Amino acid sequence: MEDAKHKVARAALDELPGRGIIGLGSGSTANLFVEELGARVRAGLAIVGVPTSESTRALATRAGIPLLDDEGPWEIDVNVDGADEVSAALDLIKGGGAAHAREKIVNFAAKRNVVIVDASKLSTRLGERWAVPVEVLPFAHGTTCAHLARLGEPRLRVRPEGPVRTDAGNLIYDVAAGPIDDPGRLDRALRAIPGVVETGLFVGRADVVLVAEKAGVRRLVRGG
Ligand code: A5P
Repeated sequence: MEDAKHKVARAALDELPGRGIIGLGSGSTANLFVEELGARVRAGLAIVGVPTSESTRALATRAGIPLLDDEGPWEIDVNVDGADEVSAALDLIKGGGAAHAREKIVNFAAKRNVVIVDASKLSTRLGERWAVPVEVLPFAHGTTCAHLARLGEPRLRVRPEGPVRTDAGNLIYDVAAGPIDDPGRLDRALRAIPGVVETGLFVGRADVVLVAEKAGVRRLVRGG
Protein backbone atom coordinates (compact mmCIF):
# COMPACT_ATOMS: atom_id res chain seq x y z
CA MET A 1 0.00 0.00 0.00
CA GLU A 2 2.77 2.42 0.94
CA ASP A 3 4.44 1.61 -2.34
CA ALA A 4 1.26 2.36 -4.31
CA LYS A 5 0.92 5.71 -2.56
CA HIS A 6 4.53 6.60 -3.40
CA LYS A 7 4.01 5.63 -7.03
CA VAL A 8 0.94 7.80 -7.48
CA ALA A 9 2.46 10.71 -5.54
CA ARG A 10 5.42 10.72 -7.90
CA ALA A 11 3.13 10.44 -10.96
CA ALA A 12 1.34 13.63 -9.88
CA LEU A 13 4.57 15.59 -10.45
CA ASP A 14 4.04 15.08 -14.20
CA GLU A 15 0.73 16.96 -13.94
CA LEU A 16 2.36 20.19 -12.73
CA PRO A 17 3.33 23.25 -14.73
CA GLY A 18 6.98 24.34 -14.81
CA ARG A 19 6.14 27.20 -12.46
CA GLY A 20 3.05 28.49 -10.67
CA ILE A 21 0.79 28.01 -7.67
CA ILE A 22 0.02 24.49 -6.45
CA GLY A 23 -2.69 23.43 -3.99
CA LEU A 24 -1.32 21.01 -1.43
CA GLY A 25 -3.81 18.40 -0.22
CA SER A 26 -3.97 16.59 3.11
CA GLY A 27 -3.70 12.95 4.14
CA SER A 28 -1.06 10.27 3.81
CA THR A 29 -1.00 10.19 -0.02
CA ALA A 30 -0.93 13.98 -0.37
CA ASN A 31 1.86 14.05 2.25
CA LEU A 32 4.02 11.89 0.01
CA PHE A 33 3.31 14.27 -2.88
CA VAL A 34 4.34 17.25 -0.73
CA GLU A 35 7.62 15.52 0.13
CA GLU A 36 8.31 14.76 -3.55
CA LEU A 37 7.45 18.34 -4.48
CA GLY A 38 9.75 19.66 -1.76
CA ALA A 39 12.65 17.79 -3.33
CA ARG A 40 11.85 19.42 -6.70
CA VAL A 41 11.64 22.87 -5.10
CA ARG A 42 14.99 22.39 -3.42
CA ALA A 43 16.34 21.47 -6.87
CA GLY A 44 15.04 24.77 -8.29
CA LEU A 45 11.37 24.30 -9.30
CA ALA A 46 9.66 27.72 -9.07
CA ILE A 47 6.35 26.92 -7.43
CA VAL A 48 4.45 28.32 -4.45
CA GLY A 49 1.99 26.25 -2.40
CA VAL A 50 -1.39 26.72 -0.74
CA PRO A 51 -1.79 24.18 2.10
CA THR A 52 -5.16 22.62 2.95
CA SER A 53 -4.47 21.91 6.63
CA GLU A 54 -2.18 22.87 9.48
CA SER A 55 -0.42 19.50 9.20
CA THR A 56 0.24 20.06 5.48
CA ARG A 57 1.45 23.58 6.26
CA ALA A 58 3.97 22.16 8.74
CA LEU A 59 5.10 19.43 6.34
CA ALA A 60 5.45 21.81 3.37
CA THR A 61 7.40 24.30 5.47
CA ARG A 62 9.80 21.56 6.58
CA ALA A 63 10.14 20.47 2.94
CA GLY A 64 11.16 24.00 1.92
CA ILE A 65 8.06 24.85 -0.17
CA PRO A 66 7.21 28.57 -0.08
CA LEU A 67 3.55 29.12 0.88
CA LEU A 68 0.96 31.81 0.20
CA ASP A 69 -1.02 33.22 3.13
CA ASP A 70 -4.46 31.91 4.08
CA GLU A 71 -6.52 34.88 2.99
CA GLY A 72 -6.70 34.32 -0.75
CA PRO A 73 -7.85 34.86 -3.35
CA TRP A 74 -5.30 32.61 -5.02
CA GLU A 75 -4.93 31.72 -8.69
CA ILE A 76 -4.08 28.06 -8.17
CA ASP A 77 -2.84 26.33 -11.33
CA VAL A 78 -3.11 22.74 -10.13
CA ASN A 79 -4.37 21.29 -6.85
CA VAL A 80 -3.19 17.80 -5.88
CA ASP A 81 -5.12 15.97 -3.17
CA GLY A 82 -6.08 12.48 -2.03
CA ALA A 83 -9.56 11.04 -1.49
CA ASP A 84 -11.26 8.39 0.61
CA GLU A 85 -13.57 7.13 -2.12
CA VAL A 86 -13.82 7.75 -5.89
CA SER A 87 -16.96 6.77 -7.83
CA ALA A 88 -17.21 5.66 -11.45
CA ALA A 89 -18.33 9.24 -12.26
CA LEU A 90 -15.13 10.52 -10.55
CA ASP A 91 -17.05 12.12 -7.70
CA LEU A 92 -15.29 11.95 -4.35
CA ILE A 93 -15.76 11.46 -0.64
CA LYS A 94 -13.07 13.29 1.32
CA GLY A 95 -12.59 14.23 4.95
CA GLY A 96 -11.11 11.09 6.48
CA GLY A 97 -8.55 13.45 7.99
CA ALA A 98 -11.17 16.11 8.86
CA ALA A 99 -9.58 18.60 6.42
CA HIS A 100 -12.35 18.67 3.79
CA ALA A 101 -13.58 22.24 4.38
CA ARG A 102 -10.21 23.79 3.54
CA GLU A 103 -9.68 21.14 0.88
CA LYS A 104 -12.92 22.12 -0.84
CA ILE A 105 -12.06 25.83 -0.76
CA VAL A 106 -8.67 25.14 -2.34
CA ASN A 107 -10.24 22.72 -4.85
CA PHE A 108 -12.70 25.41 -6.00
CA ALA A 109 -9.85 27.94 -6.32
CA ALA A 110 -7.87 25.70 -8.67
CA LYS A 111 -7.96 25.67 -12.45
CA ARG A 112 -7.31 21.93 -12.43
CA ASN A 113 -7.76 19.28 -9.76
CA VAL A 114 -5.66 16.13 -9.71
CA VAL A 115 -6.66 13.38 -7.27
CA ILE A 116 -4.21 10.68 -6.21
CA VAL A 117 -5.43 7.36 -4.82
CA ASP A 118 -4.69 3.66 -4.77
CA ALA A 119 -7.11 1.17 -6.33
CA SER A 120 -8.72 0.34 -2.95
CA LYS A 121 -10.49 3.73 -3.04
CA LEU A 122 -12.53 3.00 -6.19
CA SER A 123 -16.24 2.19 -6.00
CA THR A 124 -19.20 2.28 -8.37
CA ARG A 125 -21.36 4.65 -6.31
CA LEU A 126 -20.19 6.90 -3.48
CA GLY A 127 -21.04 5.67 -0.01
CA GLU A 128 -20.34 2.03 -0.80
CA ARG A 129 -17.17 2.25 1.29
CA TRP A 130 -17.37 5.45 3.34
CA ALA A 131 -19.80 7.54 5.31
CA VAL A 132 -19.91 11.23 4.34
CA PRO A 133 -17.84 13.39 6.73
CA VAL A 134 -19.75 16.53 7.70
CA GLU A 135 -18.07 19.37 9.60
CA VAL A 136 -20.47 21.05 12.03
CA LEU A 137 -20.30 23.93 14.50
CA PRO A 138 -20.01 22.78 18.13
CA PHE A 139 -22.93 25.05 19.10
CA ALA A 140 -26.15 23.00 19.18
CA HIS A 141 -24.46 20.09 17.45
CA GLY A 142 -27.06 17.75 18.96
CA THR A 143 -29.74 19.69 17.08
CA THR A 144 -27.67 19.64 13.89
CA CYS A 145 -27.24 15.88 14.38
CA ALA A 146 -31.03 15.41 14.63
CA HIS A 147 -31.37 17.11 11.21
CA LEU A 148 -28.54 15.00 9.77
CA ALA A 149 -30.41 11.88 10.92
CA ARG A 150 -33.14 12.60 8.35
CA LEU A 151 -30.55 12.10 5.59
CA GLY A 152 -28.50 9.19 6.94
CA GLU A 153 -27.02 7.72 10.10
CA PRO A 154 -24.78 10.31 11.75
CA ARG A 155 -22.02 9.29 14.10
CA LEU A 156 -19.88 11.82 15.97
CA ARG A 157 -16.21 11.18 15.18
CA VAL A 158 -14.45 10.46 18.47
CA ARG A 159 -10.90 9.42 19.31
CA PRO A 160 -9.80 8.01 22.68
CA GLU A 161 -8.77 11.55 23.71
CA GLY A 162 -12.22 12.97 22.86
CA PRO A 163 -14.24 14.30 19.89
CA VAL A 164 -12.17 15.05 16.78
CA ARG A 165 -11.77 18.79 16.16
CA THR A 166 -11.03 20.30 12.77
CA ASP A 167 -8.42 23.01 12.21
CA ALA A 168 -11.28 25.49 12.74
CA GLY A 169 -12.24 23.87 16.07
CA ASN A 170 -15.42 22.27 14.71
CA LEU A 171 -16.78 18.71 15.08
CA ILE A 172 -17.18 15.94 12.51
CA TYR A 173 -20.24 13.75 12.03
CA ASP A 174 -19.76 10.81 9.68
CA VAL A 175 -23.13 10.32 7.99
CA ALA A 176 -23.71 6.84 6.55
CA ALA A 177 -26.02 7.32 3.57
CA GLY A 178 -24.73 4.97 0.94
CA PRO A 179 -24.79 3.87 -1.70
CA ILE A 180 -25.65 7.40 -2.83
CA ASP A 181 -27.74 7.74 -6.01
CA ASP A 182 -27.42 11.51 -6.34
CA PRO A 183 -24.41 12.91 -4.44
CA GLY A 184 -25.11 16.46 -5.65
CA ARG A 185 -28.60 16.37 -4.15
CA LEU A 186 -27.34 14.91 -0.86
CA ASP A 187 -24.60 17.57 -0.71
CA ARG A 188 -27.15 20.36 -1.17
CA ALA A 189 -29.50 18.86 1.45
CA LEU A 190 -26.70 18.53 4.01
CA ARG A 191 -25.43 22.04 3.37
CA ALA A 192 -28.92 23.48 3.87
CA ILE A 193 -28.89 22.41 7.56
CA PRO A 194 -28.00 25.26 9.94
CA GLY A 195 -24.73 24.44 11.72
CA VAL A 196 -23.26 22.47 8.81
CA VAL A 197 -19.98 24.05 7.73
CA GLU A 198 -19.03 21.72 4.87
CA THR A 199 -19.49 18.19 3.58
CA GLY A 200 -16.94 15.73 2.25
CA LEU A 201 -18.86 15.26 -1.03
CA PHE A 202 -16.84 16.62 -3.97
CA VAL A 203 -19.16 16.38 -6.97
CA GLY A 204 -17.67 17.09 -10.38
CA ARG A 205 -14.53 18.49 -8.75
CA ALA A 206 -11.87 16.03 -10.03
CA ASP A 207 -10.42 16.69 -13.48
CA VAL A 208 -7.88 13.87 -13.37
CA VAL A 209 -7.72 10.87 -11.04
CA LEU A 210 -4.44 8.97 -10.86
CA VAL A 211 -4.92 5.44 -9.56
CA ALA A 212 -1.99 3.33 -8.39
CA GLU A 213 -2.47 -0.24 -9.55
CA LYS A 214 -0.20 -3.29 -9.58
CA ALA A 215 0.71 -2.72 -13.23
CA GLY A 216 1.37 1.02 -12.87
CA VAL A 217 -0.61 4.24 -12.63
CA ARG A 218 -3.96 4.52 -14.43
CA ARG A 219 -4.98 8.03 -15.49
CA LEU A 220 -8.75 8.68 -15.44
CA VAL A 221 -10.03 11.92 -16.94
CA ARG A 222 -13.44 13.40 -16.16
CA GLY A 223 -15.69 13.12 -19.16
CA GLY A 224 -12.98 11.06 -20.88
C1 A5P B 1 -8.33 14.63 4.50
O1 A5P B 1 -9.37 15.20 5.22
C2 A5P B 1 -8.89 13.75 3.42
O2 A5P B 1 -9.78 14.37 2.56
C3 A5P B 1 -7.80 13.03 2.66
O3 A5P B 1 -7.52 13.63 1.44
C4 A5P B 1 -8.29 11.65 2.45
O4 A5P B 1 -8.70 11.17 3.72
C5 A5P B 1 -7.24 10.72 1.85
O5 A5P B 1 -6.28 10.39 2.81
P1 A5P B 1 -5.25 9.22 2.59
O6 A5P B 1 -4.42 9.60 1.41
O7 A5P B 1 -4.48 9.19 3.87
O8 A5P B 1 -6.02 7.96 2.37
